[in-house]
Amino acid sequence: MDKIVIKGGKKLKGEVLISGAKNAVLPIMAAALLADGTSEIQNIPSLRDVVTMVRLLRFLGARVNHAGPTIEIQSNNHLKSIAPYNLVSTMRASVCVLGPLLGRLGYVELSLPGGCIIGSRPIDLHLKGLETLGAEITIEHGYVKARAKRGLRGADVYLGGSYGSSVLATANVMMAAVLARGTTRIESAACEPELVDLAEFLIKMGAKISGHGSHLIEIQGVDRLHGISHSIIPDRIEAGTFMVAGAMNRGSDVLVRNCVPEHSHALLDKLRQAGIIINKTKDSIRIRRNGLLRPTDVTTLPYPSFPTDLQAQMMALMAVTPGISVITEKIYPDRFIHVSELNRMGSKIFLEGSSAIVHGVKHLSGAPVMASDLRASAALVLAGLVAEGVTEVHRVYHLDRGYERIEEKLSALGASIKREKEKN
Ligand code: EPZ
Repeated sequence: MDKIVIKGGKKLKGEVLISGAKNAVLPIMAAALLADGTSEIQNIPSLRDVVTMVRLLRFLGARVNHAGPTIEIQSNNHLKSIAPYNLVSTMRASVCVLGPLLGRLGYVELSLPGGCIIGSRPIDLHLKGLETLGAEITIEHGYVKARAKRGLRGADVYLGGSYGSSVLATANVMMAAVLARGTTRIESAACEPELVDLAEFLIKMGAKISGHGSHLIEIQGVDRLHGISHSIIPDRIEAGTFMVAGAMNRGSDVLVRNCVPEHSHALLDKLRQAGIIINKTKDSIRIRRNGLLRPTDVTTLPYPSFPTDLQAQMMALMAVTPGISVITEKIYPDRFIHVSELNRMGSKIFLEGSSAIVHGVKHLSGAPVMASDLRASAALVLAGLVAEGVTEVHRVYHLDRGYERIEEKLSALGASIKREKEKN
């Protein structure tokens, strides 16, 4: 296993190139199963989760050629219909094969994705949506079995959940509906940019979809879909993580390139409130931190509100911002695993239900800390950038799930950061 060792206090200067979006590439790779033929997907980020999805698609019988930033996926009508526990349990996004396999084969067995450190992660909305399209669903021995003997038929599907819409449930219903007979309307659909990218991919394959990016998506079923070529959108969460990195130390000046500023409006609004100077072009954002920061309250909600995947990173910034900031987590109320580790570095953060009360401190001190959730790990790296002394972040495989060479990109910006082998 590796660890990342950071010596804090260095201001960051220069530019960083954002990679393709993890949360777009995973459902899009699953969607390629729907095509008769080969799809070529470009701008693939080098992430552990992509390798896991490649393994799953190969297990299902797709021919996958993964060469650096490009993946070719050749699908066919002889796919396996079982997604096994040993693969699905390592990555929740494996649930994305449910819709394509059911839509294409009329039958699928998927090991129930367990919970993870940020929450229980149920899939009741996924199953409700597929049942509404005519699937018969049972749960046996930890597996979901979904069958559509006479094929799926279009229907009105309401996907509203307790707090709002579900991203991957919307993805699964959309991917199941594109080959269903008739029209499907997904009401209270999620509208994250990654779902828009998925819809664009499906439309290029020959699907008839409208309304993507809004809460009402309409899909006219077609008979078949063909392989295509597509480039993944930039990762707005990686971009946001580097924007916060550029805010951590006074005197930093970071240009985040190859991003989509309109995907980051909520974060940019909070960074401006905190006193960060921001300049945007159509595909880049410049972050400058010269004065004192101001405390800023944040509440996470579905897109276009503040993303839960940037909550931990914003907390790391508020931990060194004078005053009191309140961070409320509405998507995963338990997504505060980073609080105890940040407090070990000297922050003063107190939990009150689904809110964290952050009392900004003058200094954090470097310490050995443990990575856990993907985004919590990123927050610990950000804290290490500003902490006095050395911070060692252990179990960085969590980070490698969703960040491409984060230590190299930060080092190129002037951070004193390196990856080392754990001495066992
Ligand atoms: C996607 O997960 C992202 N993952 C998550 O990013 C992200 O945090 C999440 O959306 C919210 O934005 C991918 O896209 C691969 P949800 P997803 O279904 O779709 C409840 C990261 O760090 N819910 O929107 O699984 C659920 O409990 C990851 O990159 C149900 O109740 O999230 C949670 O409270 C972490 N029933 C909320 O909805 C369901 O059937 C969000 O879940 C489904 C979800």
